[in-house]
Amino acid sequence: HSTQPTIFVIFGGTGDLNQRKLCPALYNLFLEGFMPRQFAIIGTGRKEIADSKFRTTLEEAVSQFSRTGKAEQKKWGEFAANLYYCPTDFNTPKTFENLKAQIEEKQAEFGGNAQIIFYLAVAPNFFPIIAECLQKYKLAQDEDNSRIVIEKPFGHNLETAKELNTLLSKIFSEKQIYRIDHYLGKETVQNMMAFRFANSLFEPLWNRSFIDHVQISVTEQLGVGDRGGYYEGAGALRDMIQNHLLQLLCLIGMETPISFDADEIRDRKVEVLKAMRSFSPEDIRFGTVRGQYSKGWVEGKEVPGYRSEAGVDPHSNTETFAAVKFHIDNWRWQGVPFYVRTGKRLNQTSSLITIQFKDVPHHIFSPEVTENWQQNRLIISIQPEMSIRLQVQAKRPGVNMVLNPVDMVFDYKGTYDTDSPEAYETLLLDAMTGDQTLFMRGDQVEAAWELVMPIINTWESKKSLNFPNYPADSWGPEEAEALIARDGFHWFHLP
Ligand code: BG6
Repeated sequence: HSTQPTIFVIFGGTGDLNQRKLCPALYNLFLEGFMPRQFAIIGTGRKEIADSKFRTTLEEAVSQFSRTGKAEQKKWGEFAANLYYCPTDFNTPKTFENLKAQIEEKQAEFGGNAQIIFYLAVAPNFFPIIAECLQKYKLAQDEDNSRIVIEKPFGHNLETAKELNTLLSKIFSEKQIYRIDHYLGKETVQNMMAFRFANSLFEPLWNRSFIDHVQISVTEQLGVGDRGGYYEGAGALRDMIQNHLLQLLCLIGMETPISFDADEIRDRKVEVLKAMRSFSPEDIRFGTVRGQYSKGWVEGKEVPGYRSEAGVDPHSNTETFAAVKFHIDNWRWQGVPFYVRTGKRLNQTSSLITIQFKDVPHHIFSPEVTENWQQNRLIISIQPEMSIRLQVQAKRPGVNMVLNPVDMVFDYKGTYDTDSPEAYETLLLDAMTGDQTLFMRGDQVEAAWELVMPIINTWESKKSLNFPNYPADSWGPEEAEALIARDGFHWFHLP
């Protein structure tokens, strides 16, 4: 862990992300001894509030959102003594002078060798102005000791992502830029690399000769909640597939890196994106489905349809569900479809990767004893269950030969008695220690946009839709079942 004194500057200090994720994560790192002895967290925002108010707001947030809850008062007091607030109005760049003064004061107190991490937890339209102010006030000139962490969304499309990369690269070097995709910080997602590259068992099977198809399914029971304003301009494809789901796909699809070096791993991942088949109009027609939820009942309570959510246009065509069939055109994966789906207000909250292996070449058991026949599957459950299951056929105990599928299970709960850190804990610690492995490089983000742009453009050009087309608490639009059923498969979910 990093022992270098560290100053965190959180733009959007009074915002939701800091309260729900960042501050609780930093507090847990503090409790577990991962924070350097000397650190300061300076929150900024438009509101004029005192340090004391900032501290009490975050105290409440941590009690509510930290996985460990707020520990005894003494610990919180020690942590909170490092929290400061500095009002900053991005539209009046002069207010950055106060911020600069506060940073310099802390620098002096820490002996002048603190690293500074600027965390942009604000709406994306503020990214450019903040970056420019950091340059103007010479706050991020030290390439080795200053970093900028950027939250999603990184661009609204390929063009704006490129613009943002260009702007950032004028001010920072790539090694200073940490583009967050919080899925990469999840314990089970990191384990995918251990699973694939620390075991010799799976690699020989990890290709088109043995794998039939792959499914990546991230379903959520929650609706859009109070994020309608943001979500209206995004939709499921931008919000989830362009970033999180494609990153999961890269982890399954990537070639073996020669080391665990950040750029080596990011090179292998970007190669997957580059090998992915571009979408023809035909592929979009038959290989993509979008949907939007209508009202329905969830656990005995009526929930509104998307078009009635706060901040949403009553005639909105924004998709809250998307399913896409991808192909990776290389030797390893030729002919193996990757089906990806995600949506809100679905029947289950669950992130699952299912790798279905090919059927046995010849069946020796008669159909009567193999009624529940199931091809072998490897199921990586990312959340809420954290497990890896290998589904195999077994003989059911009894005097007759009857087969049924059983699971060989590795589950975190039964194996480890320690809690897993939250994604943001891992990622914030990595930003402090300067490890970019789990962050997105500029070319990765652009390659992912490039891949989805034809779908976005086609979808946006067609305005007459039969939306809403799936009720809350369902598995999404029927067309999504048809998409995969046409190839003889069906979406897998845990019981
Ligand atoms: C965010 C999306 O990036 O990820 C949200 O903007 C989504 O819409 C969330 O709900 C899902 O993250 P998690 O960690 O709850 O699976």
